[in-house]
Order: sequence, then structure tokens, then C-alpha cells
Amino acid sequence: MGAHSTYSPKTGIGRWVDARMPLPRLVHDSFVSFPVPRNLNYAYTFGGILALMLGAQILTGVVLAMHYAADTRFAFQSVEKVMRDVNSGWLLRYLHANGASMFFIAVYLHIARGLYYGSYKQPRELLWILGCIIYLLMMATGFMGYVLPWGQMSFWGATVITGFFTAIPLVGEWVQQLLLGGFAVDNPTLNRFFALHYLLPFMIAGVVVLHIWALHVVGQTNPTGIEVKSKTDTVAFTPYATVKDALGMIVFLILFSYFVFYLPNYLGHPDNYTIANPLKTPAHIVPEWYYLPFYAILRAITFNIGPIDSKLGGVLAMFGAIAVLFFVPWLDTSRVRSAAYRPWYKLFFWLFAINAIFLGWLGSRPAEGAYVIMSQLSTLYYFAFFLVIMPLLGLFETPRKLPGSITEAVLAKHGGHGAALPQGAAAAPEHKG
Ligand code: HEM
Repeated sequence: MGAHSTYSPKTGIGRWVDARMPLPRLVHDSFVSFPVPRNLNYAYTFGGILALMLGAQILTGVVLAMHYAADTRFAFQSVEKVMRDVNSGWLLRYLHANGASMFFIAVYLHIARGLYYGSYKQPRELLWILGCIIYLLMMATGFMGYVLPWGQMSFWGATVITGFFTAIPLVGEWVQQLLLGGFAVDNPTLNRFFALHYLLPFMIAGVVVLHIWALHVVGQTNPTGIEVKSKTDTVAFTPYATVKDALGMIVFLILFSYFVFYLPNYLGHPDNYTIANPLKTPAHIVPEWYYLPFYAILRAITFNIGPIDSKLGGVLAMFGAIAVLFFVPWLDTSRVRSAAYRPWYKLFFWLFAINAIFLGWLGSRPAEGAYVIMSQLSTLYYFAFFLVIMPLLGLFETPRKLPGSITEAVLAKHGGHGAALPQGAAAAPEHKG
């Protein structure tokens, strides 16, 4: 903003507002004239998709809340009433429940993009950390939302997860009782989970504002990992990035709609269509799919580590698996940012991605026999990737030769012709060599 602003209000009212509170100028400078690297690919559309999904979740959630009863006697029936009696209630609920899954698909792809292109590296450490905070808030929100329909998985999932906290020495039981509002999952638990499930998305929205603010200070990375050096390296956000983001969103919404209209219960658990019964434990208690890798890590620690018993060890490993993300900017010691120029990192990254999916599958299996051993090996690789491979690779890997600039990389890819083209022109296909 400020000195670099190209905004000039065209109407009298526009000038009047601009002199008093230049919000339209802020929007224009951030989402219209804002320069973005000209070589962004579709992996860079997930941030926008996430913003869209956050908005959709808040909208459907607020309307659902108008029909929901946060009372253990009525919660299950109130959700069934939404499904059967409320106009388009089934659509609202399926949008919200599947929207949560889609939100997590998008966030995992967004994080993977960050890991692949080294988005977290200096000067974007704070941007990354804000992202990690958003992710933690998303996990808490999703967990509490799943308890609200008061089905069997709601109840038993909440019982198991809040039980983890008792593993913390000294304060564990106190923390658990604070979460539950008593000694077991019951009406006070449902009430506070509903209050927090309503509150947290707005906190997420607040952190997203900081996230995007930080992004606009340092600018976006790009697939080469080279910083913007001249005007020819960038194009204006609108129309170039807006149109690309819009296409990404449309494709994503088609996938979302497919789940909502054809497989609305595929990602849920059938036991949650049975009302919560504290006297009947389900055969397998499984969390939602997006927590499964961490659930596998939790259950992989079946042994005591010195004074730490296996239960505390599992809880520490599970929280450690998320905590380690916060330190990624300092664990990666490479001078080169993008995996496109790091042959070994690229290999280990894809192994990491496959391993994370495998951990998710293991989390859905019973914790017995070969599954336990596989979970232990997968957990080992998960931590080794961050704590051993990332720091060491930076010291030993020989990166490929980097292009001189973003423009040079783009022109080389498209036939290597011509001098740098004016801002905004070079990305058009007719300029291909
Ligand atoms: C509600 C969740 C989130 C929203 C709405 C959001 C939004 C955005 C947007 C709009 C961008 C710019 C476009 C793009 O690069 O895709 C972005 C970039 C970025 N986000 Fe997020 N984000 C979210 C969660 C996260 C999480 C969980 C992380 C990491 C743990 C993260 C890390 C980053 C980083 C490092 C960048 C810079 C990318 C680059 O320039 O290379 N974000 N985010």
C-alpha cells in the first residue's frame, strides 16, 4: 500500500471514502494490482480454495446452529430433524460435514505444496507458523464438531481423545476435567464443545487475515524458489491469479459436489447414525480420516522410553508430530528453496507423502500384530524426515543449477526466445516460442 499504490478512485464518493478510510484501496492493492510471480502453477490455488471453504463452513455452520440443540437429550434428534424436516436441511448438513473433509484435503495439499517448494524458508517463517496455528485450530474445530451429532463415534471419540490428557503428569486429570466439565463426557462437555466449535472458526478467520497480511509483506514464492528480481518476473494478481484461482475453485467444487450428492456418508462412520450410548463401546473407535496419521503415531508407541510410559510416549509422539512442523523453517538447512532443483529432497519428499498416506491407512486398522510394527516404522520415517533428512540433506545434497531469474526459467521452458516481455504480457500463450 501507500507509496506504491496505483489505486485512483473514479467517483466522488470513492475519493471521499478513500480520504477517510482507504479500504477499497487496500483491497485493490492486495487483490487487483498486487504483483505475483508469473510462473505460479495450480498448486498455488489451494490458499484461495481454503479461504472459500472457510467461508462456506461458517455460512452452513451458522444456519445449522439455528436448528441444533446442544443438549444430550435432544442433540441427536435435532440433527435428524435437520435431515428430514428442515427445508434443504439435508443439503446444509451434507455440505457442512463433507465440507470439513474437503477443507482438510485442501489444507494437506496446501501444506504439501509448502514443503515441496520450500515456502517456509526465510523470509516466510512467520507466514508458515501462522499456517501451523491455523492447522491446530482446524484440528480442534473438526474434533469438537464431530461430537455435536451425539452419535456413538461422537461420544466414544470424545472419550478417547480427552482421555489422552490424563497421560500428562501432575495436571493431566485436571486438564481432562476442565475439557469435559465433569468426570465423563456428558451434557457440560457437549455444551462447551458447541460453544467452542462456534467460536474457533472465527478465530481461524482472524489468523487467516494475519496469514495473508504476512504473505503480502513478503510476497509469494514460485516453483523455481527464486525471489522476484524485476518487473518482468511478475504479473498483476487480477486477472492472472484471480482467473487461475477461480478455475481451481470450480474443479474443487465439482469434487466437493460429487461427495455431497453421490457419496454423502462415505467419509463418515455408520456408527454415528446410532445415538450415543455410554454403556456400549463400539467394536472399533476410529477418528475422522484426517486425524488417522496422528492416531497411528499415537498407537505406535507401545513401549516405555526410560521414565516415560507408553501412554505418555504415544501422546508426546502425536503432539510432537504436529509440533515439529513449527520448526521446519530452521530444520531445512538447504540454501536452495524449491524441490524442483533438489533431486534428493524431491525423492524424500515423495516418500514422505506416501508414508503419510500409509500412516493414515494404518490408523484405520486395529492396533495389533504387523500393523503395530508397520506403524512404528512409518512413525520413524515421519520424524526422520524432519529431524534427520531435512537438516543433513542441506549440507550434503548438490542442487541442480538454478536459472538466473523467474523470467529466464519461464522463457527457457517455452522455447527460450526473446527478451523479457512487459509486465502481464509474457504469460499469454501466443508468446510461446
Ligand atoms: C484456513 C486455512 C488457510 C488459508 C485460508 C490459507 C490461505 C493462504 C493463501 C490465500 C495463500 C496465498 C495463495 C497460495 O499460496 O496458495 C497462502 C499461502 C501460504 N500458506 Fe496458507 N492458508 C491456510 C492454511 C495454511 C497452513 C495450515 C499452512 C502451513 C502449515 C500454510 C502455509 C502457507 C505458506 C507457507 C504460504 C506461502 C506460500 C508461498 O508463497 O510459497 N497455510 N495461504
